[in-house]
Amino acid sequence: MSFAPLIIAPSILASDFARFGEEVRALDVAGADWIHLDVMDGHFVPNISFGPEVVRALRPLSARTFDVHLMIAPVDPYLEAFAKAGADHITVHAEAGPHLHRSLQAVRALGCRAGVALNPGTPASAVAHVLDLVDLVLVMTVNPGFGGQAFLAPMLDKVADVKAMIADRPIVIEVDGGVGPDNAGACAAAGASVFVAGSSVLRGGPDAYADNIAAIREAAALARGEMV
Ligand code: DX5
Ligand code: ZN
Repeated sequence: MSFAPLIIAPSILASDFARFGEEVRALDVAGADWIHLDVMDGHFVPNISFGPEVVRALRPLSARTFDVHLMIAPVDPYLEAFAKAGADHITVHAEAGPHLHRSLQAVRALGCRAGVALNPGTPASAVAHVLDLVDLVLVMTVNPGFGGQAFLAPMLDKVADVKAMIADRPIVIEVDGGVGPDNAGACAAAGASVFVAGSSVLRGGPDAYADNIAAIREAAALARGEMV
């Protein structure tokens, strides 16, 4: 069986907000495959993070894929701003608006790869009718809003459900929330190939980032029976 490449996507939500630029550079050097940018509006989720101007400011600092996760509602009025700011991927929540297809079509029309995210309370079936419009499905493994929460193990079944649903379509599954070396293997075994990690990568400061990223990659690879 062949697998999608393992992708580690550190979230700068766990970084030092006074040093975003240095943090992105450090994560890039440490081996991050993608940089995950969590956008929160204080409405769709009970926290506020940052908007498109921060994405724009960080864009020149790394050539890595910018994986923008929008936890905002409404989302449509802001898609263009994030695309113009340099997002490579834009992920919108299935719960964020009444017209999911329109949002995803708009993301692709802007030249970005499109993702759809599922809150823990939303079943896998919510994405069944948009699979031709997405490049990734993000399964939240915590309730969105904050970093540092405990991984919700029952979400592994949802990952497996999504994996079965996407069949041979070129769609990757991303897990986000409480992900680290202790559960990355189970996520990989269930079908995830993209691992968003805030606290477990950024703990210990920049000198630890490379080892922290490698530990997640090794745990996932081991579960797939691959050598690292
Ligand atoms: C949660 C965000 C996550 C979060 C992950 O709302 O979408 O990306 O930053 O952080 P950890 O890995 O600390 O759970
Ligand atoms: Zn996220």
